[in-house]
Amino acid sequence: MAAVLSQLAAPWTDETSVFGRDMLACLADKPHAISPKYFYDAHGSQLFDRICELPEYYVTRTELAIFRRHIYPMAALIGPEAEVIEFGAGSLLKARLLLDVLEAPRGFVAIDISGEHLNAACTDLRRSYPALTVTPVVADFTHPENLPLWHSTTGRRVGFFPGSTIGNFSMPEATRFLVAAARLLRGGGLLIGVDLVKDPALLHAAYNDAAGVTAAFNRNLLVRANRELGCDFQIDAFRHYAFYHPAQQRIEMHLVSATAQQVSLNGDRFALAPGESIHTESSQKYTVDGFRALATACGFLPRATWCDEAGLFSLHWLESPDPAL
Ligand code: AVJ
Repeated sequence: MAAVLSQLAAPWTDETSVFGRDMLACLADKPHAISPKYFYDAHGSQLFDRICELPEYYVTRTELAIFRRHIYPMAALIGPEAEVIEFGAGSLLKARLLLDVLEAPRGFVAIDISGEHLNAACTDLRRSYPALTVTPVVADFTHPENLPLWHSTTGRRVGFFPGSTIGNFSMPEATRFLVAAARLLRGGGLLIGVDLVKDPALLHAAYNDAAGVTAAFNRNLLVRANRELGCDFQIDAFRHYAFYHPAQQRIEMHLVSATAQQVSLNGDRFALAPGESIHTESSQKYTVDGFRALATACGFLPRATWCDEAGLFSLHWLESPDPAL
């Protein structure tokens, strides 16, 4: 595959060539699968913002309501002089809720793979909090062990990972992430949003909305591949297929080819049979006890959990104990 990649047409940006490499592996391997992180180009980020407003998608509004209701006890547990590190910085709306009430935060570090989006969000944040040191870090936060956090830390590090993005990780990936995060945040902790196991009908509706926004979000991955990688996916021939697997406690999203088609990437052609799928996303759901047990096994001390009344969503404050103390 390295030989193939070296022939890829220039000028590809770094981000594009990594997408190209992963798409090549997706088409070459069976079953076909690609990381959901490629959903989020400019259009995909807009579609995701629309998903967050959908009546069926309870995730965002429920998490915001939990934040608004419990933000003071959260800030009290986090304590003064924290250096907040957000993993994956979307609109930074939830970060603002926190920064508004934290006592004397020492700084805010936002990590995201999309540099353009990140810099714009940080510029906005600096405008609102002129006294705060805001540091954008363009990096893949799914690997916290590799994060370029070489800058001198002045406060206790407090990780912030809202939105249940951890649900996109497989169990081994979630474990690896939490172990690395516990190490990175030693002496501080992690405030994390985790979506919960619930009635499969509610979950099914949340990922199969009536307006078709989630379907468009899913297909946009192929739109992006056609534009950025010169692929020729027949977009209209793909069906959005999302279902809840109750034993695995996760949503799986697929794009299923309705017809036989050939897809080209960098001069190679790959056949897709009718009914053949590309697995584009998994969204793991947890029980409160299950997540706290996982966090404990990864080196955290779960100190507090907040939920909405219907038990749809949870936020957790996990301390990372300093062994020297
Ligand atoms: C951003 C990963 C939390 O899994 O619910 C929404 C992404 N995918 N609808 C989720 C998503 C389809 C979302 N996360």
